[in-house]
Amino acid sequence: MATLLKIENLKAAYGGIHALRGVSLEVEEGEIVSVLGANGAGKSTLLKCISAVMKRTDGTIEFDGKPISNKPYEIVEAGLVQVPEARQIFAKLTVEENLRVGAGNRKDPDGVKKDFERVYAMFPRLKERERQYGGLLSGGELQMLAIARGIMARPKLMMFDEPSLGLAPVIVSQMFEVIKELNQEGISILLIEQNANKALQISDHAYILQTGLVVRYGTGKELLADDTLSAAYLGE
Ligand SMILES: Nc1ncnc2c1ncn2[C@@H]1O[C@H](COP(=O)(O)OP(=O)(O)OP(=O)(O)O)[C@@H](O)[C@H]1O
Ligand SMILES: [Mg+2]
Repeated sequence: MATLLKIENLKAAYGGIHALRGVSLEVEEGEIVSVLGANGAGKSTLLKCISAVMKRTDGTIEFDGKPISNKPYEIVEAGLVQVPEARQIFAKLTVEENLRVGAGNRKDPDGVKKDFERVYAMFPRLKERERQYGGLLSGGELQMLAIARGIMARPKLMMFDEPSLGLAPVIVSQMFEVIKELNQEGISILLIEQNANKALQISDHAYILQTGLVVRYGTGKELLADDTLSAAYLGE
């Protein structure tokens, strides 16, 4: 398996706050990799640096064998997509229009059409609400639309920042099922979660982040079996 995402010694700061202090991490093609850690550990900062919405102060990021671009749209075009937060869905665009935004400036209309069918098959609820405004969707539907919008960009790697946050338990379980399904369709996943248990259950590998540093790494199975983990690092 080839390495899809390779991060070495990544550092980033907000003024004097060193949010990332030298993080190295890899995602192999076909894997689900989780990053876990307590509030403030640096998880969201990590994703912001990868998507180039925040500038790193040191370190290297390679995607698909090449140094990653520093322009967010070029990163998406290269196949690395961060699933937007539900609140970034356009309230005054319909479901269909939001999905079209996700397809960006793809030049393969036939492929785009297929992906519309693909996301509607995956989320029949979105098909039923095709013409409804984003602002009228429920919390769970919004999260589905956010994921579907990400899929429309045809990603090789999808990144999620706490997709289960604020959702009802039933919807949370559906969310993890969807992530597994995407992975089975060949999309690699980088998942940030507070719900460590559920995340580890579907992860090939996981990293534990603590105040900007990786303090543990292992397979999902290994970390699940380690009952010292939650008390020590996850703030549970
Ligand atoms: N815009 C900002 N300005 C200043 N400091 C920030 C900013 N965003 C984050 N930080 C700080 O950087 C550190 C890492 O924050 P980050 O948001 O990456 O953590 P996180 O692991 O995603 O936490 P959470 O689980 O609460 O989402 C924290 O100490 C936080 O207070
Ligand atoms: Mg965060």
